Amino acid sequence: MSPRLVPAGSDPAGRRDRPLTITVDGDPYTGVAGQTLAGVLLAAGRTSWRQAPSGAPRGVFCGIGVCFDCLVTVNDERDVRACRRRARDGDAVTTQSRATGERDGQRP
Ligand code: FES
Repeated sequence: MSPRLVPAGSDPAGRRDRPLTITVDGDPYTGVAGQTLAGVLLAAGRTSWRQAPSGAPRGVFCGIGVCFDCLVTVNDERDVRACRRRARDGDAVTTQSRATGERDGQRP
């Protein structure tokens, strides 16, 4: 199975996409309505967006809202599970990290 999005034009179900754009740490990512934030990132080829306390990269682990490995800040709301939150056009996502006390990209 691939995390890549099947283009609507080649989808045999005849789906119509409503495009959206989110930003992650200021970088734009495009997706379609109905995708989760994690889905938008995975479809763009990004597999990690935060760090564990050890510094190890984290992204989607369970994909069902149980492990909290995918946490991000969305429109200033911290600790949002990217695998559970549907992306909305204009969402401003900020990555989080637990590595060495770092929060939202800022060192203490
Ligand atoms: S990947 Fe496990 S909670 Fe999101």
